[in-house]
Amino acid sequence: MELIINKLNKNQERASNVFFDDILMNEELNEYLRQWENEYMFSLGKIGLFKTEVAENLTYEQIKYFVRIFYHVRGHFYKFLWCLGNNAPDQKAKKLILDNFKEEFGENKPSHETLYQTFAHSIDPTINIAEEFIKEEFYLDFLRKYNIEHTRVLLANSWNYKISAFSAYERLDNTDYSTLLKMLRCFKLKNPVNSIFFDIHANAKHFDMLYCDLSKVWHDEKETVKGAFMFIASHQLSMWKLLSDSVLSQ
Ligand SMILES: [Fe+2]
Repeated sequence: MELIINKLNKNQERASNVFFDDILMNEELNEYLRQWENEYMFSLGKIGLFKTEVAENLTYEQIKYFVRIFYHVRGHFYKFLWCLGNNAPDQKAKKLILDNFKEEFGENKPSHETLYQTFAHSIDPTINIAEEFIKEEFYLDFLRKYNIEHTRVLLANSWNYKISAFSAYERLDNTDYSTLLKMLRCFKLKNPVNSIFFDIHANAKHFDMLYCDLSKVWHDEKETVKGAFMFIASHQLSMWKLLSDSVLSQ
C-alpha cells in the first residue's frame, strides 16, 4: 500500500513539475514574442508610407497605385497555405490549414477577395481585382520575389519551421493591418474608404489558434522558432520598404 502511495505521490510531483515547466516555457516564449514584435513595430514605424505626415500627403494617383500593388502582397497567400497543407504531417495539422482557407472564403459572409474588391471600389470604381488576378499587371518584380521566397523557404524547411513561420506570419497580420488602418485614416479622399477587409485582419485571432502548436515547437526546438520568426519579420520589413518606395516614387 505504502509503495502504491509513494508511486502516486511521485507521479503527481512529476505531473506538477511538467505543468510548471510548461508555464515557465510559455513565459519565455511570450517574452520572446513581445521583444520580437516591439523590434518589428519600431522598424515598421520608420518606413515612409506609415508615417502620418507622409500618408496625409499622398496624391490620389499614389493611393490608387497602393491599392493595386498591395493586392499582390496578400492575394497570393493561398500559395503559402497550399505549401503548408501539402506538407502537413497529420489530419489535425491539415484541418488547421483548411480552417484558414475556410476563413479566406468568408464562410457565410463575403470572401476576403470580395472584401478587397469592395475596398478597392470605394477608392476607385474602375479597379477590377478579378481582372488583376488574371492579368497581374501590377504584380511588380519585388512582390513576385517576396511571394516566391515565402514558398521557397517553407518548402526547404521542416514542419516545425513551417508552423513557426505560419505563426509569425499570422501574428504580424494584426500588427500590419492595424498600421495599414492608421494609414488609410490619413488618406484625404472625397468618399469614405470601406476598410472591412483591413478591420477583420487587424482583429483576426489566427495566431491564438496556432499558439499551442508553436509552444510545443518552442519546447523542443527554440532555435527553429527563432529562425522562422526572424525570417518572416525581416522578409516582411524589406517588402514594406520596397512597397513604400514604389508608392512614394509615383
Ligand atoms: Fe485574409
